[in-house]
Amino acid sequence: MAITPIVIGNWKMHGLTTSLDEISRLLALVQSGHAPAADIMICPPATLLERAHGLLQHTAVALGAQDCHPAPSGAHTGDISAEMLADAGASAVIVGHSERRIDHGETDALVAAKAAAAHRARLTAIICIGESEQERNDGATLQILKRQLQGSVPQEATAANTVIAYEPVWAIGSGRTPTSAEVTEIHGFVRRTLASRLREGEGDSMRILYGGSVKPANAATLLRLPDVNGALVGGASLKAQDFYDILATYAENRVA
Ligand code: PGA
Repeated sequence: MAITPIVIGNWKMHGLTTSLDEISRLLALVQSGHAPAADIMICPPATLLERAHGLLQHTAVALGAQDCHPAPSGAHTGDISAEMLADAGASAVIVGHSERRIDHGETDALVAAKAAAAHRARLTAIICIGESEQERNDGATLQILKRQLQGSVPQEATAANTVIAYEPVWAIGSGRTPTSAEVTEIHGFVRRTLASRLREGEGDSMRILYGGSVKPANAATLLRLPDVNGALVGGASLKAQDFYDILATYAENRVA
């Protein structure tokens, strides 16, 4: 079954009003070049969502957010609900990024509740998983990923409303990436785990992204591996040209 890949830019805590120019540049690149055979999404900080929505609506670039609270509303100072993100124009939200798991002590159960909240608000949940350097050195990678998949992905998740992002914590922002053999083994493992956990057919067609130091120079290698259905891109998504060069992997390798 052909799975349409998706390349998602995660701006993290970067971006002021002036950064909206990068979104305009990206749109100009996407509109001028060969249309990549991939879905495209940018996840700016929450403060820019509405203005980014103004630029992106009715274009080929979708808008996502970076986190949500599990409740629809309530006394949770500083938090933002999935419904609010949808109201601001987002169609997706990242949940369980390792920076939130580490900085805010987010557990698998909380991540699953956030993913369910995203679904309730009709947002696509982009659920992140990944092992730490210590866990990798201990040979515990697959065990950790299995636990995260079982704990963070709601059982009723579908290929239409959920994307999985495998992001080894040690590869994020470090310039290091796993070998092609490691990515192939791990994505195959994630695919099989999803297929056995979710409703018939959903795990087979759910998109599994690789994330962690994806750059224009390594995108072609990483994105062509089996069961890699796109990328979650941090640093290299901040510059429209770099992000577009990553996307161009799919323009050059258009699959019929
Ligand atoms: P990076 O971040 O591309 O800067 O390594 C990826 C991510 O954390 O989503």
